[in-house]
Amino acid sequence: MSLLKVARMGHPVLRARAREIERAELKQGSMQKLIDDMIDTMHEYHGVGLAAPQIHESLRIFVAAIAPENDDPLSPDDEPMVFINPIITPVGPEVVEDWEGCLSIPDIRGRVPRARAIRIVAMDRTGGKIDVASHDFPARVIQHETDHLDGVLFFDRMRTFATLSYLEEYSRYWSKDRD
Ligand code: NI
Repeated sequence: MSLLKVARMGHPVLRARAREIERAELKQGSMQKLIDDMIDTMHEYHGVGLAAPQIHESLRIFVAAIAPENDDPLSPDDEPMVFINPIITPVGPEVVEDWEGCLSIPDIRGRVPRARAIRIVAMDRTGGKIDVASHDFPARVIQHETDHLDGVLFFDRMRTFATLSYLEEYSRYWSKDRD
């Protein structure tokens, strides 16, 4: 396993549009290793998702520890999902605002509006077709990660910066997990 260095806000790779992957490229050992390393890196830094531009690869790939059709967090034994060349479409007009963070913007949280329900079409790591509906938390993760492939960071989506918080203050005043 190799851990990859995570690009932080300010690195131009996070602002570029990443390129599509050809199905044939997925047969390359180097591409499969990159995906494995992305999964290891996401776990190491306790991310729920990680997009290739965040590890300095301008490719349309992201990994996410979610079950797209299920709002429950993935159990640690489950393999994370790999989405390649994702296309997302909002389903219905409903927009919900909730807290987000990003491994490329460490220790900051803010509230971001997202479509509540989406459909995502993508390739998996074998080149197979993914076509699923998703809502609430996993849909939020999918929208956040897909944004990374277009050079968009969650700050760009905030309606106001009034909720922008350092992690310590977020945990103290805003986290649902606080006592
Ligand atoms: Ni992010």
